[in-house]
Amino acid sequence: KKSEAWSALFSEPMSELVKRYTASVFFDKRLWLADITGSLAHAEMLAAQGIIGAKDLADIQRGMAQIRSEIEAGTFEWKLDLEDVHLNIEARLTQLVGDAGKRLHTGRSRNDQVATDVRLWLRDEIDLISDLLKELQVALVDVAEQNVDVILPGFTHLQVAQPVSFAHHLLAYVEMFSRDAERMADVRRRTNRLPLGSAALAGTTYPLDRERVARTLGMEGVCQNSLDGVSDRDFAIEFTAAASLCMVHISRFSEELILWMSQNFGFVKIADRFTTGSSIMPQKKNPDVPELARGKTGRVVGHLMGLITLMKGQPLAYNKDNQEDKEPLFDTVDTLKDTLRIFCEMVGGQLNPATGAKEGGITVNAPAMEAAANKGYATATDLADYLVKKGLPFRDAHETVAHAVKAATSHNCDLSELPLAVLQGFNASIEKDVYECLSLRGSLNARNTLGGTAPAQVKSQIARHRARLG
Ligand code: ARG
Repeated sequence: KKSEAWSALFSEPMSELVKRYTASVFFDKRLWLADITGSLAHAEMLAAQGIIGAKDLADIQRGMAQIRSEIEAGTFEWKLDLEDVHLNIEARLTQLVGDAGKRLHTGRSRNDQVATDVRLWLRDEIDLISDLLKELQVALVDVAEQNVDVILPGFTHLQVAQPVSFAHHLLAYVEMFSRDAERMADVRRRTNRLPLGSAALAGTTYPLDRERVARTLGMEGVCQNSLDGVSDRDFAIEFTAAASLCMVHISRFSEELILWMSQNFGFVKIADRFTTGSSIMPQKKNPDVPELARGKTGRVVGHLMGLITLMKGQPLAYNKDNQEDKEPLFDTVDTLKDTLRIFCEMVGGQLNPATGAKEGGITVNAPAMEAAANKGYATATDLADYLVKKGLPFRDAHETVAHAVKAATSHNCDLSELPLAVLQGFNASIEKDVYECLSLRGSLNARNTLGGTAPAQVKSQIARHRARLG
């Protein structure tokens, strides 16, 4: 008995093991809508070019509509014997409409078909991801707006460095996510190009109108070289790179949330529905969601390594290796989308339809943040800057303040708690206005350059983001 899928050339059926090894239908069936959409655009063009008849086109359209409703209803029978999504759909089409189904593949190969399907599918996923990135930025800007005057210690080396506004801190993540959105938009342009018409590798003998198919599919143009068209997976790698970077941003934020939630910080709380308990320790509420997001970042970065390595040894043009692009790509999309969704809600809360307001987002413990900012001499730089304004060279001011910090440490107090006479002992030019610059708010207000943490700057950044995000 010959293999069902192939031709008279084969003298024995494929072994069961090989069948399972080579089949992709159990994961690539998720491309079904892109596959049907691409096939319909191809068929319309074939008919317009007189390559198939009008009746064939009508049959194909009717058959595809039927297949679509079967898949949506869950009654479509996916067959391992038919290897992948493309052959499954084509076989069912032929079963439904006969010869017209057999004409669909004219001037086409699965090589340009699969490349088209993946691009169409990914393009739409990129649009969903872009929406989520926007939603997350809006959620962060909302929380920032409520916390312009909340001060927490800014860290370098995780040592208290200088006080910053909590809003300013959150807006740093908005910058990261806005770059992620830009990268997604850029990847989209190169994803949204049409390989169809490249056929197996060299183009086709039929007078295809590739531009027409591209227009029908809303693509920005056609792949200009057939060998490249069937074998280019740059878009998948670029996407996974952009997704990895976005996950890295989420992972950094997660790390901060985890720290901030720890009893030693106590800066924020996330809603209970994002935490889990312990099976042994009754008091525990663990930040599982941020921890998992941090963990899943490793998995997405792994997919990037997988995909980029997949391509490195492939000669032109199509090789079956490329079938291995799908699982990492699909999992990257799923992981990123789920993570973004969960972060939108964890940060911004859920809409309460009764009040029209969002509830259950991040809870900020402003006094704890401020108390932490009051430890660790966060305004030492301000004192140095104060002395510079009195005429001291910065290096000397730096040294003078180091002595003052040492004294404060031995008195177990903050710089702002040292009496004026003691401060004057370090430098006679110090006057009582020094206490303004030693205060957390004074320190913040003083950093009023573009991009700085002064409330005036932070407010203008919030306004800029609001305008940008619409
Ligand atoms: N399932 C295949 C893939 O994912 C479709 C293309 C197969 N082409 C071929 N010549 N075997 O890449």
